[in-house]
Formats: sequence, C-alpha cells, structure tokens
Amino acid sequence: MITSSIETAARLLRAGKVVAFPTETVYGLGALAYDAQAIARIFEVKGRPRFDPLIVHAENAVRAFELCEGSSILASRLAEAFWPGPLTLVLPKRSSIPDIVTAGLPSVAIRVPAHPIALKLLSLVGSPLAAPSANRFGRISPTTSAHVHDDLGSDVPLILEGGPCGKGVESTILSLLEARPRLLRPGSVSLEDMTAVVGDIDVSNEYSERPQSPGQLRSHYAPHTKMERLRDATRPPPGERVGLLAIRPIAAEGYAAVEVLSPSGDLQEAAANLFSALRRLDVLQLDRIVCEFAPARGIGLAINDRLSRGCQR
Ligand code: TXA
Ligand code: MG
Repeated sequence: MITSSIETAARLLRAGKVVAFPTETVYGLGALAYDAQAIARIFEVKGRPRFDPLIVHAENAVRAFELCEGSSILASRLAEAFWPGPLTLVLPKRSSIPDIVTAGLPSVAIRVPAHPIALKLLSLVGSPLAAPSANRFGRISPTTSAHVHDDLGSDVPLILEGGPCGKGVESTILSLLEARPRLLRPGSVSLEDMTAVVGDIDVSNEYSERPQSPGQLRSHYAPHTKMERLRDATRPPPGERVGLLAIRPIAAEGYAAVEVLSPSGDLQEAAANLFSALRRLDVLQLDRIVCEFAPARGIGLAINDRLSRGCQR
C-alpha cells in the first residue's frame, strides 16, 4: 500500500514491521534499529546477503552519535557542515546495536536524512531506523514510490509517499575509523566539499567480493539490460536496438531510445534523473544500453561510480 500517512507508517514500524520511506537521496526500507527480528525482515525482503551492513538513520546528530562509541572531532565537524544531509559516517559502534545491523562489524554507518517526511517519521517513531535502499539487492535504487512498488510490491506492508527524491543518488559514505577519513562510496556530498571541512581524504578504489562497503561491490546498481560506456556517440552498430543514456544533449542518430539526464548539463539534475531514466530504458527490451559518463568532479564522481558498477556483470 502506498500512503501519505506518516502516523500509519510510524505505527507499523513501532510494531516491528518494515516500511519504505522517502529520503532526499533514494527511498529506504526501514525497520527499528534495535529490533533484530525486524531487521532480519529487511534482509529477507531485499534478498540482501547478511554480510552487507545497513545505514542507521537518526533524527538529529545527538541521536545519531548515541549509536557510536567515543567521540570524534572530525565527525562533529562533518555533522555540523552536512547534516541533515546525504552524508553517512562510519564510526565505532555501541555494543547495544544488534550485530545483524552492522553485519558483525565493530563499526556502524549513521546519517541524518534531509527530508521532512523522513525526519517527521523518525521523530514519531522515537527510535533510529536502519534502512538500506528499498530495491532488490544489486539492482537500481528507487527514487519514487512507484519504483519501490515495482521492485518489492506486496513484500512491504507500506510505502510512504514522498514524491521523487531530490538528490537521486545514494549518500556519500565516509569512514572515520582510521587517522585519515576514507571515502567508501561517492555520493551527493562531494569530495571537494568534505575536504574543505576535514582536509585530506583517502579515496579507496579497491573492490572485492566482501568489501568494506558493499556499495563497493563491482557489480551493483545494475539494470537487467547489458550496459556499457559510450565510446562513440555518432551511431550504434547496425541491426541492434541500443538505448542511449546521455548526461546532456548530444548529437546521436539510430538509437532505439535516448534519455538525456539534464538538458542544461547540470550534474545535480542529471543525478536526480539517473535511476528513473535507467529504469525506463531497462524495460524496453533493448539489446544494449550505452551510457555517457559525467565530468569527474563534484556529484559527477557519484554518477560515474553508479554507471561503472551498472556496466559490470
Ligand atoms: O542514501 C543512502 O545512503 C540510502 C538512504 C536510504 O539512506 N541508503 C543506502 O543504503 O544507500 P544501502 O544499504 O543501499 O547502502 C549502504 C551502504 C552499503 O554499501 C554498506 O555496505 C555500507 O553502506 N555500510 C553500512 N555499514 C557500514 C559499515 N559499518 N562499514 C562500512 N560500510 C558500511
Ligand atoms: Mg543499496
């Protein structure tokens, strides 16, 4: 059921159910962070492997840091600069957080979402909510309630309506477990903006089958249709039905379908449209999707990260 009633959503969550809710990045599939059984249901609904830890969402920085052991000056500065907002911090966890949330890791990922409905929900529930993106594991994240419904359907008792997500790519994940901050997943808070607040950041480029952050899995955010990076825009090979995903308007002929993410070439707009456009192309029974990469700056890094993972299989 898709509803606008935050009260109904809060009631279900308090009763130990899972509920999909909007955030500024993508829709999340939430459950009480301290209810291991409710959390187990998230893994079941998503088909998510238990080694992949969840992000815990809190209504403000004080509540968020209550989930962590010790304190960190860098974390306080980042929270001050970017919360509520699309930045997830990885910090040492309090032992009271169930292991299933953190996949047995000694750390926990926390964030305060910048979405009025998410914040109202967190405040009504009165507890932090663990929530991964509300899609089947490895697939494209949902940026509308209809996406969640298409993916998870009746497996979720309730989807809270919040309109299309403004940011469109998942939060930036930054680990503060070592002396220097480490970027685990690029997102809508840019490396440049974080560096201005905390100085140098390590950028990890290593992917593995059991990564520090499964958003780092090589194949993730993947459409069903084979996808590859655009090399030559002029025209696709004859005899094939190819879809083109372009960041900005480009001269192209012979494509079965074209999606332009931003008419003005604005990268934030492109990010907001990315997953919807990819889903539209993915249902056209194309032989292939080719995608144009964004300039590698700001949110362009996050767009390219999702595109390159979507190209892997
Ligand atoms: O924007 C977002 O972050 C959305 C919305 C719903 O908040 N959530 C989201 O969750 O993208 P999910 O589960 O799709 O991605 C969470 C990522 C995973 O790659 C996971 O491995 C990583 O966060 N993560 C969670 N806890 C971690 C930890 N303790 N250490 C390292 N990575 C962690
Ligand atoms: Mg996800």
